[in-house]
Amino acid sequence: MHILVTGGCGFIGANFIQHMLHTYADTVIVNLDKLTYAGNRRNLAEVEASFLETRYFFVHGDICDQSLVTDLMHGFPFDAVVHFAAESHVDRSINDPFPFITTNVLGTQNLLEAARQAKISRFVHVSTDEVYGSLGPTGVFTEDTPLAPNSPYSASKASSDLLARAYFHTYAFPVMITRCSNNYGPYQFPEKLIPLTYLKATRNEPIPVYGDGLNVRDWIHVLDHCQGVAATLFKGQPGAVYNFGGDAERTNLEIVRTILRLTGKSEDLITFVTDRPGHDLRYAMAFERSTRDLGWTPKISFDEGMEQTLHWYQDHGTWLDEVQSGAYRQFMDTWYKTRGA
Ligand code: NAD
Ligand code: DAU
Repeated sequence: MHILVTGGCGFIGANFIQHMLHTYADTVIVNLDKLTYAGNRRNLAEVEASFLETRYFFVHGDICDQSLVTDLMHGFPFDAVVHFAAESHVDRSINDPFPFITTNVLGTQNLLEAARQAKISRFVHVSTDEVYGSLGPTGVFTEDTPLAPNSPYSASKASSDLLARAYFHTYAFPVMITRCSNNYGPYQFPEKLIPLTYLKATRNEPIPVYGDGLNVRDWIHVLDHCQGVAATLFKGQPGAVYNFGGDAERTNLEIVRTILRLTGKSEDLITFVTDRPGHDLRYAMAFERSTRDLGWTPKISFDEGMEQTLHWYQDHGTWLDEVQSGAYRQFMDTWYKTRGA
C-alpha cells in the first residue's frame, strides 16, 4: 500500500510511520511535513537509516500549498492519505488562533480536494475528542455526541471534521474520521503536560498546574492510537467516525503526582497557576464502535505506558534538549509569565 502521511515528523505521525513500516512489509510511505516548531526530522532518523528512498520518502512542504499537494497526489500512485498535520497545542491557539485556521481548516480542505481530484481511494482524517467540547463529572463522548468545541484549536479541528463529512456526503469521497483522547509516549513535544512535567521535575523547576488541577483527561498510549488509525485505514467504513480512548481517566494533579513519584521528586514542585481560559473540565471516550467494527481495543495499561514513556525520556535527554528551540522558549516564557508561573 502506498500512503501519503501528512505531519509525519510530529509526535503521533512519527510513531505511526515507524509502526506501519515495521509492521506491514508492503507499505511505502511519503511523508509531507512543513517542519514547524513541532516537527522534527530526527524523530524518524531510524526510519531514514533503514528505508529512505526505498519504502520511505520525505517531502518538506506545506499542506496549504495547492500546487505542491496537487502535484504530489497526481505524481505518485497513492492508495491512501493519512492526515495528521495540524497545529496541535491548545494554549498556542489561545495565544494566536490564525495558524490553526490556516493549517487545520484550509490545509485540510486543500488535501481533501486534491485527493478527490486524484481519486484516492481512502482518506483517514485524524481528529480529536476535543471537538465534542466538555463533559461534567459523569458521561462519555460517543461518535454521535454533537460537536461543541470550546478552544480555537478544537474549533479548527471540528471545522476540518465537518469538511471531511461534507466531502463524503457531497462527493461520496471515501473519508473516515478518527477522534482520540490525550496521547502520551515517545517523541511528544515538551509543551504538553506529561513531557513538560517530566522536564521540569528533572530540573527541579516549578511545575505549572492550571486552576485547581482537577480537570480530567483520558490518556492513551500513542501506539494504541496508531493501531486504531491503521485499523481505520484497512477496515474503516467510508463516511464513518471512530472514537479511540485509553480507559484511563486521571485528573491533571494525579498525572503530575505520578510523574513526581516515578522520578523521585518532591510534590513541593507543584505550582498552581492561572487557569487556561475556557479550560474543558473533563473528557471521556466510549469506543464500542471501534471495538465492534475495527476489532480495536487499547492494549497498553496506563501504569505500564507511563513507566515506559518516562524511561524513553530518560534515555533521550539529547532529543529533549535539541527540540527546545528559541521559538519554543519564547512561547513558553511569555505564556507561563502571564499565568503567574
Ligand atoms: P504535533 O504538533 O506533535 O505534530 C504536528 C506535525 O504537523 C508536525 O510535524 C508539524 O511540522 C506538521 N505540520 C504542522 N503544520 C503543517 C502544515 N501546514 N503542513 C505540513 N505539515 C504541518 O501534533 P500531534 O500531537 O502529533 O498530533 C497529530 C494529529 O493528531 C493532529 O491532527 C492532532 O489534532 C491529532 N490528535 C492529537 C492528540 C494528542 O494527544 N496529541 C490527540 C488526538 C488527536
Ligand atoms: O484530547 C486530545 C487533545 O489532547 C489533542 O487534540 C491535543 O492536540 C493535545 O494537545 C491534547 O490537548 P490538551 O489541552 O488536553 O493537552 P495538554 O497536554 O496541553 O494539557 C493536558 C491537561 O493539562 C489540560 O487539562 C491542561 C493541563 N495543563 C497543561 C499544561 C501544558 C496544566 O495544568 N499545565 C500545563 O502546563
